[in-house]
Amino acid sequence: MRNTALLDFCAYLENTPLGLAIQDNFWVVPTMQTLHILAISALLVSILMIDLRALDLHGKSDSISTIVSRYINIIWFALPILFISGSLLIVGEPARSLANPAFQLKMMMLLMAIVITLGIQKLGSRNIGLEQANGKVKLLAILSLLLWFGIVASGRWIAYT
Ligand code: HEM
Repeated sequence: MRNTALLDFCAYLENTPLGLAIQDNFWVVPTMQTLHILAISALLVSILMIDLRALDLHGKSDSISTIVSRYINIIWFALPILFISGSLLIVGEPARSLANPAFQLKMMMLLMAIVITLGIQKLGSRNIGLEQANGKVKLLAILSLLLWFGIVASGRWIAYT
């Protein structure tokens, strides 16, 4: 029943003027995929810089708050690009993702990853000048790495599930 409603919604979405325009213009999907990949690269590099510093594995010559303030805005800039490019990919072919367990898992992990990134931002900027991370920051950094890698993996798996 729930699945039928979801598939009806997908059918509606792909027949909206936007859905039809995306299907009729061959360049939209590859362009959105390119934007998606570029934004993923920028986001992941920033996540790695922050999380590896929080785990004392990289960039120890700078404090955590310095690294957080250096990279956090790249993350908040990349996310809307991912949201817009991803949403346009969905409207062009909704059932491929909305009804796909890999996509649903990706979205759940994304919500958790955003909350954890906010937590790291808050703790990181509070510990101005901190040389070594405390246990809480380290735990958040490990969860963050697991979630962001999981998001990338499930994003790629959408094509195969
Ligand atoms: C913010 C909301 C997002 C939406 C709505 C979204 C949606 C999508 C959609 C529809 C696809 C195409 C899947 C397919 O047809 O094969 C895709 C691919 C992908 N997404 Fe996202 N995505 C979002 C964010 C992210 C984030 C934050 C990441 C990782 C950091 C990510 C990683 C990927 C990857 C790795 C692919 C596969 C790209 C490819 O193989 O061409 N996405 N996403």
